[in-house]
Amino acid sequence: MRKVTYMLLFAVLISLPVTINAADGSVAFSTCVDNKGNITIPKDFRTRWVHLGSWAVPAKTDPGAGFHDVYTQPESVEYYLKNGSFPDGAVLVKEIRKAEWREMTTGHVVSEGDVDTTFVMVRDDTGRFKGNPNWGDGWGWGLFKASDRSINASASYKEDCIPCHLDAKDTDWVYVGGYPTLRKGDGMK
Ligand code: HEC
Repeated sequence: MRKVTYMLLFAVLISLPVTINAADGSVAFSTCVDNKGNITIPKDFRTRWVHLGSWAVPAKTDPGAGFHDVYTQPESVEYYLKNGSFPDGAVLVKEIRKAEWREMTTGHVVSEGDVDTTFVMVRDDTGRFKGNPNWGDGWGWGLFKASDRSINASASYKEDCIPCHLDAKDTDWVYVGGYPTLRKGDGMK
């Protein structure tokens, strides 16, 4: 009898739609998403992931002033170059760093200072986390301010992200034209 119960329990467990990683509660499809759809900044992305490219917004008075460095996983780059789209579970991290100006032997140089805001997008092909206001249109959306980098400060992606990403709607909401690493041939659109 007990054996049957265990077998039933096992059958139920393996049929669950998502696998929970016991250690941190993250779902199997992404190590930076927990089972409720809460997004965190991926660990070690600077040392282990691929730098897709950077946007420089050099005027001090511009709202996005600084450098915008964008990263993704190596396997997502390989998939993109083959298929022209991001795979389920692909994560894009955009880190905004303050710009610093100085004179060097090479000229008037702008280099990267401290991290300010970090943005994260997690590709979701299957519509997980319905009802969570930071999931939809094929992605999970996260915003992490310098004041507390452990909490997604976006209240709703429809208000906090989509209006500004409309220009990239045709390329799956991603400004792919800015990433040399994803270019097979020519550059910006
Ligand atoms: C003020 C407009 C604006 C807002 C608001 C905004 N974005 Fe963006 N985002 C952009 C632009 C423009 C780029 C590319 C150029 C740049 O960074 O200067 C970009 C790039 C990104 C990238 C790099 C990948 C890509 O799409 O090219 C990520 C990741 C990202 N945004 C996530 C988010 C998330 C998540 C939110 C909401 C929490 C958000 N963004 C809100 C304008 C915005």
